[in-house]
Amino acid sequence: MNPVGKGTKSVRGGVRHVNDGIGSIIEPIYQTSLFDYREPEQRPSLHGVVPLKYSREDNPTVHAVESKVAELEHGMDALGTSSGMAAITTLIMSLLSRDSTVLMPLDVYGSTLVLMERLSKFGVRTVITDPGTDNVIKSLRGGINVVFIESVSNPLLRVYDIPEIVKASHEVGAVVIVDNTLATPIGLTPIDHGVDFVIHSATKYLGGHNDVVAGFIIGSDDRIKGVWEWRRFLGTIMEPFTAFLVDRGLKTLHIRMRTHEESARQSPSS
Ligand SMILES: Cc1ncc(COP(=O)(O)O)c(C=O)c1O
Repeated sequence: MNPVGKGTKSVRGGVRHVNDGIGSIIEPIYQTSLFDYREPEQRPSLHGVVPLKYSREDNPTVHAVESKVAELEHGMDALGTSSGMAAITTLIMSLLSRDSTVLMPLDVYGSTLVLMERLSKFGVRTVITDPGTDNVIKSLRGGINVVFIESVSNPLLRVYDIPEIVKASHEVGAVVIVDNTLATPIGLTPIDHGVDFVIHSATKYLGGHNDVVAGFIIGSDDRIKGVWEWRRFLGTIMEPFTAFLVDRGLKTLHIRMRTHEESARQSPSS
């Protein structure tokens, strides 16, 4: 059995940058646009790309919650974004080019579908299948670059067979993105099933208190560094105060999800 459970990770997981001599056990809110850049070699590189210098690129408060979410989702690294849609846009922009094709079922979140349709003006094609694992797998063919599914679809709550979709997608060379917003890492860790990238609207269960709009992109491997570049240029990073609130919300994720599950089991229609 893993000695550090998901509940403990959601409270104590991730990297802290606190080193203020005061003994704060909580990551401070680094509400700063710039970091002193006179001695760049002494600045840490939070995502291993460039030394810390500007909060549109990296911020320690944001990094603290990113590293916690990466740990919870069993990913190599995570990037905090200003919303769930910012997570999807940033990831899609980094993976696609003109003439790329994305496949997604009709029951993904409405704005995700509309975004993909709008991207047709840049030459991106979207194949929209009927809902359900079988329909996604039946529509897979060479030339599809990205498969986008929700582990539990919103709002119809259809559960997708991730291992089967990953197997069939990788056979045709497609990258698999799973929106894990409704399952949360407490319910499912798609990267354990071979998924390439996971995204979240942290506006929902991860934040948990209806007081943030936020998102995450979690990468299974080094390709997340390329996504970091796109977040840097699109300017879609999470705000430090939002990161603080999400980090605080995450501390009860495990308990909240258990309570949701118990309540659902007790409801007369279940
Ligand atoms: C499954 C799912 N993905 C993505 C989003 C978009 O997230 P946001 O509203 O944080 O941009 C939502 C929002 O409702 C959602 O339900």
